[in-house]
Amino acid sequence: MLYGSDLDDMMTTSRRRSRGAALVGALTSVMLLALSACDAAPAGGGTASGEQLYQLCAQCHGENGLGNRFANTPAIAGLPAWYVEAQLLKFRSGQRGSHPDDLTGMQMRPIARTLVNDADIKTISEQVSKMPRFRPEPQIKDADPARGSALYKPCAACHGPNGEGNEGTKAPPLQAQSDWYIATQLTHFRKGIRGTHPEDATGGMMRPQATMLPDDAAVRDIAAFIARAK
Ligand code: HEC
Ligand code: HEC
Repeated sequence: MLYGSDLDDMMTTSRRRSRGAALVGALTSVMLLALSACDAAPAGGGTASGEQLYQLCAQCHGENGLGNRFANTPAIAGLPAWYVEAQLLKFRSGQRGSHPDDLTGMQMRPIARTLVNDADIKTISEQVSKMPRFRPEPQIKDADPARGSALYKPCAACHGPNGEGNEGTKAPPLQAQSDWYIATQLTHFRKGIRGTHPEDATGGMMRPQATMLPDDAAVRDIAAFIARAK
């Protein structure tokens, strides 16, 4: 066998959970990456360069990291390295993406599990953080951004007044993230699909904020507001 037990394990898991074309493509590049890693060993103790590692991500998150609604992938380009790294570690350990109802987290988790080398996780996080961020067009139409603006007030304490994010509170930037993804994640926090793993301290901080929202419309209103915040 050309690949290690982790990859084997990941492939079995992925076959069971998803047969999507994107995943098959991703698996192919994992294998190519595993092969090409043999001839080039970059500095920093990792197995591959940021560009090489990003080939793994492009299949689902897009060449420019802007996400794809049809693949359920968020924009990751320009997210701060500390957040990307923290989330990759969570997906790898199962703090995120292991809840039985977290179908989209389960698509991401096997990928993080291939990144067995911590230096590779640092390298890919730096790479993603350097990619230019773009503001996507708002997609949620039937919502009230003005009500969303009022509901967002308590969120600003951690995420910043305009959703710029804050490393001090470990709250990621929300600006320039797709509104449909923000709404999905708020719903996941509300239902306990994200933020309920006993070791997920930062998800556990976020979850009560989402459960305090009065109704499902509030989720859409906030997402619509963030998509328009200056
Ligand atoms: C098989 C498709 C697939 C591949 C390949 C993939 N991802 Fe993902 N990724 C997803 C999906 C789907 C989500 C959304 C998870 C959710 O809904 O919670 C996601 C979520 C993420 C998140 C969370 C973003 C946030 O705002 O919380 C990060 C970070 C991430 N991916 C980074 C990467 C990196 C880096 C790579 C390459 C090493 C990669 N992904 C490869 C499908 C993929
Ligand atoms: C006490 C601080 C705090 C407050 C207040 C807070 N958040 Fe968060 N939020 C966080 C942290 C920390 C995370 C990262 C969770 C993780 O590590 O998985 C997060 C994550 C999120 C995410 C997921 C982003 C992504 O890229 O996946 C969304 C969406 C979000 N918050 C929206 C909100 C909204 C809307 C409010 C107000 C109703 C709010 N937050 C209030 C701390 C906070």
